[in-house]
Amino acid sequence: MDEGNAKSVKAVLLGESGVGKTCIIARFINNTFENNIMSTTGASYAGKTVAFDEFGGKCIKFEIWDTAGQEKYRALTKIFYKDAGVAILVYDITRRESFEEIKNYWYHQIKDCAPPNIVLGIAANKCDLYDNEQVSEEEARKFADEIGAVFKLTSASTNTGIEELFKGVGCKVLDPNYVDDNDPSKNKDNIVLNDEKDNKNKKKKGCC
Ligand code: GTP
Repeated sequence: MDEGNAKSVKAVLLGESGVGKTCIIARFINNTFENNIMSTTGASYAGKTVAFDEFGGKCIKFEIWDTAGQEKYRALTKIFYKDAGVAILVYDITRRESFEEIKNYWYHQIKDCAPPNIVLGIAANKCDLYDNEQVSEEEARKFADEIGAVFKLTSASTNTGIEELFKGVGCKVLDPNYVDDNDPSKNKDNIVLNDEKDNKNKKKKGCC
């Protein structure tokens, strides 16, 4: 990997407290997951370089900012997205309010305050908890299409869709016209469920 020539891109994860922003980043950077972690206060940084075979091995260095979802930190959070190249809006599929918040608050904040060419992603997180789903994939995907965002069902817990999420937004950074056709959520057999993680079986049908 030609890290020296990597294009640096500031990426920021936004969304309500508890949707899983910190866990998504920990999974992407370290391939780890913790069940009980402290709520983020302020913001924290992590970096990872990814090579894109689709673009002749070009590399992107994601400079990832994890922001605090709690309302009291909103003014501070703005500092991180006002000059970002990528914004990933995260909601928890088991909490409808968290989806309403990305639609009614975070998306508008990005439109109003972030660079106009910012690449958007939506992470429909906690897809391992599909039994308690409160927002259908269809509804969320429709919103993603409307705003031109890369959409992925993700689970930091089972490591589903996260690599693909960063790959998807990275491809759009390298080519704004890129159409994402490598979506594991379109093939539901690819989603590993929490209760199946241990015996490594994959669910055949009806997930998410
Ligand atoms: P703030 O820092 O308060 O903004 O929250 P956050 O969005 O960073 O959420 P965080 O990553 O701290 O995760 C909140 C809780 O959700 C933790 O208990 C995680 O273990 C849990 N969690 C995160 N991702 C997943 C997931 O994909 N599946 C399941 N089942 N739980 C998850």
